[in-house]
Amino acid sequence: MFIHWDTYSLAGRHEWVKNYERTDNETYQKYFENFNPDLYKPKEWAKLAEAAGMKYAVITTKHHEGFTLFDSEFTDYKVTNTPYGKDALKEWVDAFRAEGLKIGFYYSVIDWHHPHYTIDTYHPQRASSQEEYEKLNQGRDMSVYREYLKNQVTEILTDYGKVDILWLDFSFPGEFGKDRDDWGAIELIKLVRTLQPEIIVNDRLDLKEYWGGWDFTTPEQFKVSEWPTYNGERIPWETCQTFSGSWGYYRDELTWKNNKQLLVMLIESVSKGGNVLLNVGPTGRGTIDYRAEKALNEIGDWMKYNGRSIYGCTQAPSTFEIPENSLLTYNPTTNRLYVHLLDYPLQNFTLKGMKGKIKYIQFLHDASEIQIAPPKGYWMKQDVGAGDVNIILPVNKPPVEIPVIEIILNSPNGLTHNKH
Ligand code: GLC
Repeated sequence: MFIHWDTYSLAGRHEWVKNYERTDNETYQKYFENFNPDLYKPKEWAKLAEAAGMKYAVITTKHHEGFTLFDSEFTDYKVTNTPYGKDALKEWVDAFRAEGLKIGFYYSVIDWHHPHYTIDTYHPQRASSQEEYEKLNQGRDMSVYREYLKNQVTEILTDYGKVDILWLDFSFPGEFGKDRDDWGAIELIKLVRTLQPEIIVNDRLDLKEYWGGWDFTTPEQFKVSEWPTYNGERIPWETCQTFSGSWGYYRDELTWKNNKQLLVMLIESVSKGGNVLLNVGPTGRGTIDYRAEKALNEIGDWMKYNGRSIYGCTQAPSTFEIPENSLLTYNPTTNRLYVHLLDYPLQNFTLKGMKGKIKYIQFLHDASEIQIAPPKGYWMKQDVGAGDVNIILPVNKPPVEIPVIEIILNSPNGLTHNKH
């Protein structure tokens, strides 16, 4: 679960509202002054995440607007100075840890509030000419901001126990942009590794070529066409996705993905070796949007019965042919193959090239046997080749959004696997 929660939640119209509307600090201050999430119960969030089948969560400790959800020593622009008055991050960490979820911190290296952060192309007060930029940036000193950045990253990685993931966001090299040198990224990553040696870090510090500069890549809001690579090698990846296009709470946003789309996104990612980080943008009162809550519960309904085709699974070896209208995942530990039926077939279903490879076959959701038999109907017979296997599915689609066939494979070396 990704969580974007800041004072922009009060505006309720995208976490980039300050940029989009070119708002200055003074005008934006009203959100800070009214930040008082009286219904904030992180235990409930954690329960929702857990019920949706999630294993870890990443929360914005500071987003681009510069507000900190933690009690920082280095700024007054922090949650403890709002009417809420408490360290919301501390409460969050305690609740999520108690629920058994791994802890991730998002921290924006971009900062639209800090007086020494220089105005750039993404800044709400961005300029239209070189001259104007120079004028605006007089007296701003990025080295002061770099120190601030280092201090705050030190705080979040020191004061909250073990942090499993750090999600830094984001570099945008180029004219009037910012890159690794602006952040002091090499120093920063070294510091991170020293403070939390076991942490895993995303890849947005502009340190792609630097050894140890990142651990996984982060395709955002799109579907990868294949397992991402770097220098020809497959790399660990996690796609971050929204329910509706906005990360922060957006009251009037209507482009919500449906249950099937969300499940396909998940299965599809696993089928290419990746993870999904699915975002919620809680409201200014500290509750999860009712539409997100509904979507999470639906994902949970599916995961409860089909999670085995997701956890511990990855891309299937290329020796397995992907059947029509389906997605394959594979668990290398248990040697099981999972066929996700995106468009439920009509009784006959052919698994090409699977002859001799199957030990047993069942639906995952109810462990009911699926029988191997020649196709019903004379005209189908020619579709099944000598190396293929035909299975007979019930006419009625099982009562799950995307039914999954679990194939227990014959082990090539004769070993039996019964580990789940
Ligand atoms: C982008 C956006 C940001 C969001 C992030 C999540 O970088 O700037 O609003 O937090 O994506 O991946």
